[in-house]
Amino acid sequence: MLKTDLNPINTAAVARTAEILRAGGVAAIPTETVYGLAANALDSAAVSKIFKAKGRPEDNPLIVHIAQIDWLSRYALDIPESAYKLAEAFWPGPLTILLKKSPVIPRNVTAGMDSVGIRFPSHPVAQAVIKAAGIPLAAPSANISGSPSPTKAAHVLHDFDGKIDMILDGGDCSVGVESTVLSLFGKVPCVLRPGGVTPEQIASVLGDVEVDPAVTHPLAGDAKPASPGMKYKHYAPKANVIILNGSLPDFAAYVNAHAPGTEGCAVLCYEGEQELFRVPSVCYGTEKDSSAQARDLFDSLRMLDKMNAKVVYARCPEKSGVGLAVYNRLLRAAGFEEIKI
Ligand code: TXA
Ligand code: MG
Repeated sequence: MLKTDLNPINTAAVARTAEILRAGGVAAIPTETVYGLAANALDSAAVSKIFKAKGRPEDNPLIVHIAQIDWLSRYALDIPESAYKLAEAFWPGPLTILLKKSPVIPRNVTAGMDSVGIRFPSHPVAQAVIKAAGIPLAAPSANISGSPSPTKAAHVLHDFDGKIDMILDGGDCSVGVESTVLSLFGKVPCVLRPGGVTPEQIASVLGDVEVDPAVTHPLAGDAKPASPGMKYKHYAPKANVIILNGSLPDFAAYVNAHAPGTEGCAVLCYEGEQELFRVPSVCYGTEKDSSAQARDLFDSLRMLDKMNAKVVYARCPEKSGVGLAVYNRLLRAAGFEEIKI
């Protein structure tokens, strides 16, 4: 079996990662959102290794990561002025912009689509690796498809030990949920996946923005999603997650009433609430701090797996600002099961 190296960040480790990537290998690198499983975005054979390692459906496109705004025009065509405005305001940072794909990007990167998602991450290690390699990197979240995204190097090791050459350990990711995916193809810019850059922030730069209905509602059975990622079950721990939307006292009353007859019952709540429940609990951030919830969510979902939770009652996040991203991930972890209490 391959030995997967977990490396602290230093110049030599960054240089070695860049070398692995230039040679067509796959390596996990930290970004400010989640860890990415990276390969040379210009090398279709390298990119296919990502799909294989993750068990990722081949119709789900990858994001191309760059380290300078002027690389945008190398990999995208017909770039609208609005893309440059967004780049100026939010790059480097957790925003992926969908643009018309340049033919230099192999088809498997975009899963045959004519568009390409491009992102300039703010994490200094991600930037250093891209610059040292001198190539754009295709990088999905570094988790096995369907499981919660990795916000710590240990999460990546858990999913990929023995399956990839190299993990760069950059500590905990500061945003904790994946980038905002924004389409500029319609009349009005449209958020296909909410993330660290909020719809409110995008509207402040472009004047107007829509949020795709699939962000908060399940797709109808035969509907074609704007982003293929929308149709897959995501971020899901092994437990059956149920979001309970209501006040804290109502939440506690519901849980304590239902817990006795529920095998493997656990709670996903906010800090300071744990003593209210008669069942095991894990917290994610505080009630009023969406950014803290975003940072903790995926780690908390993984902890619930470790506890062998079977049914998880979860507190319902705010549905605005970064909270919309937290809500979207939790909804998908819950298979859209939300009960109003
Ligand atoms: O923050 C992030 O974006 C992280 C880090 C590593 O940069 N990456 C990430 O990649 O979350 P991934 O592959 O786990 O999620 C990419 C999402 C998928 O839902 C995919 O369907 C969508 O973006 N996507 C990518 N390219 C697209 C395209 N051309 N059109 C529509 N959706 C696209
Ligand atoms: Mg992912």
